[in-house]
Amino acid sequence: MDNRKKIHIKTPMGEVHVSMNDLDPNGWIDFPDLALRQYFLWIHPETGASIALIEFAQGSGIPVQHTHASNQFMYCIEGEYEYTDSKIVLRPGDFYMNPKDNPHGPTMAHKNSVLLELYDGPHYYEKPSYHTSDTMVVPTK
Ligand SMILES: [Fe+2]
Repeated sequence: MDNRKKIHIKTPMGEVHVSMNDLDPNGWIDFPDLALRQYFLWIHPETGASIALIEFAQGSGIPVQHTHASNQFMYCIEGEYEYTDSKIVLRPGDFYMNPKDNPHGPTMAHKNSVLLELYDGPHYYEKPSYHTSDTMVVPTK
């Protein structure tokens, strides 16, 4: 997939409004080996900071412990989503933050879950095992 098509809004110019009716059904990034998908609402083209919707089917999750190259934030919209190492369970309305370089995960969606996922910079130093070149969004100016 063309990297630009993975990003709904990629310029930080002016205000942004994305209605749920605006979502492009083909804009979701499917993770082939995991029952999850991601939709980027916005990404900063230079820093890689981003905001995305992420949906996990019940029973899916990130299979391994991993770290991020920036601070990561999650806001649970629906479902029940657990960081199984720390036993933190996110439910609707819950906020979660994981600092840059702090190992976390694996994770498990105990119910179908929808989360808003935010990073304040690039997501990873190197491509993790659960990503492919098609699922990684790398900022491009
Ligand atoms: Fe993570």
